[in-house]
Amino acid sequence: MTQAPAFAPASDKTLPLWLVRPGPQGGADLPSGLDAMAQTWARSQGFAGKSGQLCLLPDAQGGLAGALYGIGGADRAGRDRWLLGRAAEILPAGDWRLAAVPADVDPALASLGWLLGQYRFTRYKPAEAPPARLVAPDGIDAAHVLALAAGEYLARDLINTPASDMGPAELEAAARDLAARHGAAVEVTLGPDLLDRNFPMIHAVGRAGAQAPRLIDLRFPGEGPALTLVGKGVCFDTGGLDIKPAASMALMKKDMGGAANVLGLAETLALTGATQGMRLRILIPAVENAIAGDAFRPGDILTSRKGLTVEVNNTDAEGRLVLADALALADEDSPDLLISMATLTGAARVALGPDLPPFFCDDDAVAAAIHDAGRDQADPVWRLPFWEPYETMIEPGIADLDNAPGGGFAGAITAALFLRRFTGQARHYVHFDIYGWQPSAAPGRPKGGAGQGMRAILNALPRILGR
Ligand code: BES
Ligand code: MN
Ligand code: ZN
Repeated sequence: MTQAPAFAPASDKTLPLWLVRPGPQGGADLPSGLDAMAQTWARSQGFAGKSGQLCLLPDAQGGLAGALYGIGGADRAGRDRWLLGRAAEILPAGDWRLAAVPADVDPALASLGWLLGQYRFTRYKPAEAPPARLVAPDGIDAAHVLALAAGEYLARDLINTPASDMGPAELEAAARDLAARHGAAVEVTLGPDLLDRNFPMIHAVGRAGAQAPRLIDLRFPGEGPALTLVGKGVCFDTGGLDIKPAASMALMKKDMGGAANVLGLAETLALTGATQGMRLRILIPAVENAIAGDAFRPGDILTSRKGLTVEVNNTDAEGRLVLADALALADEDSPDLLISMATLTGAARVALGPDLPPFFCDDDAVAAAIHDAGRDQADPVWRLPFWEPYETMIEPGIADLDNAPGGGFAGAITAALFLRRFTGQARHYVHFDIYGWQPSAAPGRPKGGAGQGMRAILNALPRILGR
């Protein structure tokens, strides 16, 4: 859909881009390799190396000789994610190379920020990617950075595409497309077959949709530890009979953000060849939570794949229902690592906001691996607990489980506890409650669909599964 991420070819016509921090006395810490005229020019322009500050450098004929780009003090690192993503958007046309990179700036991560800032969603209206291009910095693994960007681009494209063109059938097509490109086997269980093959909750949630509900199952070729990723694929969430008010429904095309993220992560894993060293499986329950005569109702009691009965106390808590049946299937295989990703609760946003998705994991070492990888790869995530004492909140009395506990306390935790009930055989289970959306444009992150947690997971895998 969108143009693939790309670096500019190396050539002798590239323009130097100097990354500069502030120096003492309000000036910039200008690199010593910068010639005297450029130094004077930068000072006379008041260039101070503040984050995002740009200073274009002229040559003797008045042409463009290069640019200085301020990246702020090292103390700003926690604030300025993807500083180079902004440079990608504001620099004049040309092929740029990083001339000087402060020692504590990771050139691979910086260039990923550039690529992420160049993303445009072009399916319905042409949009030019910014004309400035970056030559891959020396010494980075360019193919790896491109694979990371490609996974993120895919996730964004899938989320940005509205439900009119991204229903369960189109989500299935996207999954098949990914599988075909990487030689993965595909199995899809569709409509009434969901009942025959015992996925009653996926069927109950999705049967009122314009397109049949389905379970998409991808298996990638490879040998090694088993990794199963389950992504929430609610292509549109009206709330069902417990219909959402307009303001809450507005963004619900993104309710397949979990599916988009697991597909994006699979893309990156496959492009880097990492899939060869594992047994990767992707499961996506794909449904619309719609309203029709056959919609599931508040008060209905569903018997899940696992046998646990669930009282539906709110049809808008649909994600955990479809995920539960998919997780139960995943768990039957006893994978080494089972991960769910879902735009599951508003409560997660209330707790941590749109930029910091919570994740849940019982194992301290696994949680530390994920947290640290996210911190190091500019993909921050924050651990919340599977808090046992709240188990009573999801136990309604006349069924095993309640999908929407009253009271509304700890909504992200009770949703996670609900999902965990459908696991137990997997060696480790981790759940991410993501937002999947960038509410307003920021460096490296245009407004719209957003990947969250993919790089945290990717870079934690060696620590969790062993090399
Ligand atoms: N998809 C929503 C959660 C959501 C809303 C995520 C907004 C991100 C942004 C989910 O299906 C939902 O509606 N959850 C309810 C659960 C409640 C009824 C127990 C919620 O969070 O309000
Ligand atoms: Mn809902
Ligand atoms: Zn939902």
